[in-house]
Amino acid sequence: MFLLYGATGFVGEAIARLAVQSGLRPILAGRNAGHLAALAAELGVEHRVFELGANIDASLDAVKVVLHCAGPYVHTFKPMVEACLRTRTHYLDLTGEIPVYEGIAARDSEAKAQGVMLLPGVGFDVVPTDCLALHLKQRLPSATRLTLAFRTQGPGGLPPGTQRTMIELIPYGNRVRRNGRLEVPERGVTTRMIDFGDGPVVATRITWGDVFMAFHSTGIPNIEDYVVLPESTRRQMAKMDYLRPLFRIPALRNLLKRGVKPGPSAEKRARTVTHVWGEVEDDQGRRARSRLTGPEAGVVWTGRAALAAVRQVLSGNVSPGFQTPARAYGANFVLECEGVTREDFD
Ligand SMILES: NC(=O)c1ccc[n+]([C@@H]2O[C@H](COP(=O)([O-])OP(=O)(O)OC[C@H]3O[C@@H](n4cnc5c(N)ncnc54)[C@H](OP(=O)(O)O)[C@@H]3O)[C@@H](O)[C@H]2O)c1
Repeated sequence: MFLLYGATGFVGEAIARLAVQSGLRPILAGRNAGHLAALAAELGVEHRVFELGANIDASLDAVKVVLHCAGPYVHTFKPMVEACLRTRTHYLDLTGEIPVYEGIAARDSEAKAQGVMLLPGVGFDVVPTDCLALHLKQRLPSATRLTLAFRTQGPGGLPPGTQRTMIELIPYGNRVRRNGRLEVPERGVTTRMIDFGDGPVVATRITWGDVFMAFHSTGIPNIEDYVVLPESTRRQMAKMDYLRPLFRIPALRNLLKRGVKPGPSAEKRARTVTHVWGEVEDDQGRRARSRLTGPEAGVVWTGRAALAAVRQVLSGNVSPGFQTPARAYGANFVLECEGVTREDFD
């Protein structure tokens, strides 16, 4: 059985609906009893109400895999991972938070001993980029530098939980992978031109889960991520570098969270396309590039990728221990998501 925790959140509810539409029978779970009962009744599935405390093992009774959709994960991953380890339940989540990846990777040997797979990051962050990274590594096994990037085209904005997570991560700051180590890069905004298929556009370096996950998937020692942003956002990012220490104060982060916008409607999501681009280079100057095109990132691509991972686990395809999506299911795993295509070019 498959339990979806956080089923009353924006993304959790969308995934619950998609799961049922695609023939899965999730047990819906979360802490909001009223909303959960109504959703479970509408979808005709079981539900379980519980808070994320120390004593949640009984709530995972007879569950083979948890898809944890309640975030920001920096506040929620620990009790669920620990309960999964105790109850020998496989764990999947949607996090892109590097400190959470680090926290989960640290439980690798316990997970192996228990025969449990801990597979975080089965949403847009990081399935497409992680699978593209492994695909590129397979095209150029001598690669020593990996650059990944994405661009959203259309009206679909970010889910509310993603906006809250970005605010929570302001104090953590920026990271890149250099010579195999996670490093804080030099201050300031770094840009480069990237061609997603219709001519070069300006992309801005950001901190994305790949600097942790793609290193585990490929072993490539130098990794950076970029995204196409409006110029106004780039200017705000430049200011944020200097204001960052202030945001260690929770009250200031809570103030920013008051500005969180509702997530994109189904109609807006349907009109949004996401392009992912990746490049590897080696020390001899050889290079390979590939691109993915897929649906709206935060809900649609995330939901399809997460449910593809759930299906893999339910069919018995598990590798105990800490895993990345590409390491667990290969570079072609992302192509299991409806509407995703890949092309290679140099
Ligand atoms: N990987 C990706 O690409 C990707 C894409 C989209 C979203 N995400 C991540 O997914 C998460 C959810 O996003 P969202 O837009 O659905 O957020 P949301 O609408 O704010 O929903 C968050 C859900 O988590 C629950 N929750 C939060 N803190 C909790 C706690 N301490 N204990 C129990 N439940 C808790 C909330 O419960 P209540 O309703 O009871 O408050 C709610 O159901 C975020 O962390 C976001 O960053 C990742």
